[in-house]
Amino acid sequence: MTGPSPEKVMQIITGGWATSILGAAAQHGVFTALEGNPATAESVAKKTGISSRGAQALLDGLTGLGLLTLSEGRYQNTPDASLYLVKGKPSYLGAMAEVYLQDFPTWQKLPEAAKTGLPSAPDDSEVVDNPFWHVLVPAIAALSFPVAQMAAERLGIAKASAVSWLDVGGGSGVWSAVWLGVNKQATGTQLDWPNVNKIGRGFVASFGVADRFQTIDGDFHTTDFGAAKYDFAIYAHIAHMEAPADNIAVFRKFRKALKPGGTLVVNDFILNDDRTGHPFAMLFASQMLVMTKSGFTYRQSDYRQWLGEAGFKSVDIVPTPTPSTLVFAS
Ligand SMILES: C[S@@+](CC[C@H](N)C(=O)[O-])C[C@H]1O[C@@H](n2cnc3c(N)ncnc32)[C@H](O)[C@@H]1O
Repeated sequence: MTGPSPEKVMQIITGGWATSILGAAAQHGVFTALEGNPATAESVAKKTGISSRGAQALLDGLTGLGLLTLSEGRYQNTPDASLYLVKGKPSYLGAMAEVYLQDFPTWQKLPEAAKTGLPSAPDDSEVVDNPFWHVLVPAIAALSFPVAQMAAERLGIAKASAVSWLDVGGGSGVWSAVWLGVNKQATGTQLDWPNVNKIGRGFVASFGVADRFQTIDGDFHTTDFGAAKYDFAIYAHIAHMEAPADNIAVFRKFRKALKPGGTLVVNDFILNDDRTGHPFAMLFASQMLVMTKSGFTYRQSDYRQWLGEAGFKSVDIVPTPTPSTLVFAS
């Protein structure tokens, strides 16, 4: 046979296996059991309460995926597994693997969604206080952590005295947890669904800063954000699930809610203007296709145009070490 090997295509074909193996291992706490404690398959089975056959299959798969190493019959976490897959660490992404595995029935209908242009799942963005968010928001908090830190540094939050912000669709409250942690005089307000706000209050309390965190229960499409009230505003991982006109409408409300000179921070999966970009952001367009009626992966130029229409004069777009991008508008 001439030409490239089938390796790349085979890797993609079996991509669902990788998600499943990782999601199952995370659910059964395999990496947590192995942390600091290299062990045999039999011992992993005992510690996690799964079958010996199941443990061996998962351990083979995880070693094949490069998340574990095997030496003299004992399995050990790689540095990636240790940082991102051990429960209890703030960088934990295992819950995200579990959520993505649960999404498989929706993804199976991608061919149909591609044909019709319509979602194969009920549109999460249209269901009031959808239980989907209750599972998703704690699971994705780890991804937002370094981005919230990076934005705090760029905006000088630590030395900004008694500033305030509004985090719309704040979810776990991770942005407020990070920003309140670096500035002891600041106050953070989050607007989200009631049950998500409850999760957010618990998360922020675990950082010891809940006394300066408040929540507003409501739908951000219909809730007033106030006028000239906040120094900063945050809109993280929301714009992708909204139609362009809805994003412009929300950006207008942000402009009004910010004090003169205030800054809106948008964090999302954003493509270059020629529709290239981070591979995750490029795959994410299909996630929005199957999950939402009008969400998408938008381009930098879309954000610039919408923010301009909403009255923001200056827009800076900055990449991050994660798949997401930061937009600063003032
Ligand atoms: C993808 S999560 C993002 C959470 C957080 N901003 C982050 O970046 O980690 C989307 C959030 O938007 C909230 N949300 C979705 N639609 C909403 C609406 N119409 N009104 C208020 N909140 C909404 C969800 O409850 C969820 O917390």
